[in-house]
Amino acid sequence: MFTTALAQRENTQLGELPLDLFAAIQSLKKELNAVILAHYYQEPDIQDIADFIGDSLQLARAAEKTNADAIVFAGVHFMAETAKILNPDKLVLLPDLNAGCSLADSCPADEFAAFKAAHPNHLVVSYINCSADIKAMSDIICTSSNAVKIVQQIPKEQPIIFAPDRNLGRYVMEQTGRDLVLWQGSCVVHETFSEKKIVQLKIAHPEAEAIAHPECESSVLRHASFIGSTAALLKYCQSSPTKEFIVATEPGIIHQMQKLAPDKRFIPAPPMNNCACNECPFMRLNTLEKLYWAMKNRTPEITMSEDIRLAALRPMQRMLEMSV
Ligand code: 13P
Ligand code: SF4
Repeated sequence: MFTTALAQRENTQLGELPLDLFAAIQSLKKELNAVILAHYYQEPDIQDIADFIGDSLQLARAAEKTNADAIVFAGVHFMAETAKILNPDKLVLLPDLNAGCSLADSCPADEFAAFKAAHPNHLVVSYINCSADIKAMSDIICTSSNAVKIVQQIPKEQPIIFAPDRNLGRYVMEQTGRDLVLWQGSCVVHETFSEKKIVQLKIAHPEAEAIAHPECESSVLRHASFIGSTAALLKYCQSSPTKEFIVATEPGIIHQMQKLAPDKRFIPAPPMNNCACNECPFMRLNTLEKLYWAMKNRTPEITMSEDIRLAALRPMQRMLEMSV
C-alpha cells in the first residue's frame, strides 16, 4: 500500500510515462544524439534497447570510441564513471545514481591510501570495479577479461598490490604464479553461490558443464570447466558443443546466452539461501522507466573533478594499451 502510494507520487512528480516506452526512448536518443551502453547484467528490456551490450572492457572500449554527444550508461556507477573518465566533454547519464557495487564500496579511498603507503615500491593493479578515487591511486586498471594478461606483462621482480577483489586476485595468482598483495574486497553476488547446490545440480544434470566468473570463491571455481568474464562466458557457451550449462554469475547474462544459443539450456547457479541474491541488487536498480526519465530530464549526470579524472585516466589508458 505504502509502496504503491510512493510510486504514484514519484510518477506524478516526474510526469506521465509515454505508452510506448521503447519508441519514446528511441526518439530521445535521436534528440540527444545519445548512445545506450548496457552491461549483460541489466534486465532483458534494457539489453534489448541498448546500442551496445558488453562486459566491462568492451563497454570501456565502446565509451572510448563513440561519436555520440551523450552516453546513457545502463550499468553501475563505476562503469558510468569510467565512461566519463574517457569522455570529459560528453554528457554521461546513469538511470539510477544508487546503482553502486559492493566490490567498489569495499575499498574506501582513505583506507586504500593507507594500505598503499604500507606497501612502498608496489605497483598498484586495480580491477575496474572501483571508484575513480581508487583508479586515481592506481598504476594500471584491469578487468576480469584482461587481468591475467596484464599481470603477466609486469616484470617478475616488481611487487604488486591487487585491489579490490580478493577472489579475482587469488585467481590471477593461480594463473600467473605471481605473489600478489591482495585487498580483501568481494562481490556480494559472486560470494553467494552455494558449492553444495552446484554439486547437487551437476549430479542431477550429468551432461551439464559448470561455468563461472572469476569473482566467485575458489570453492565454486573448482567445479567450473570454464572461467571467464561475462563476454568470455557468453562466447564459450556459443562455441562449446555442450547443450546444458550451470551458470555461476549474475543470471542477467542468460538473456543473451539464450538469444545466441536458443537450442541450449542455461541453469542459473543457485545462491546459498532461498533468495534472489544471485541477482545484483545494484544493476537491477536500473529500469526502462528510469532510463526514459534520465534521458528526458538529462539527469542523473556523472560528474567528477578534473584532477581525479586526469589521475584516473592514466591507468585506464595503460590498460587499454596493454590489452590490445
Ligand atoms: P565483467 O567485466 O565480466 O563484465 O564483470 C563485471 C562485473 O561487475 C562482474 O560482477
Ligand atoms: Fe559489483 Fe558484484 Fe554487482 Fe558486479 S555483480 S556490479 S561486482 S556487486
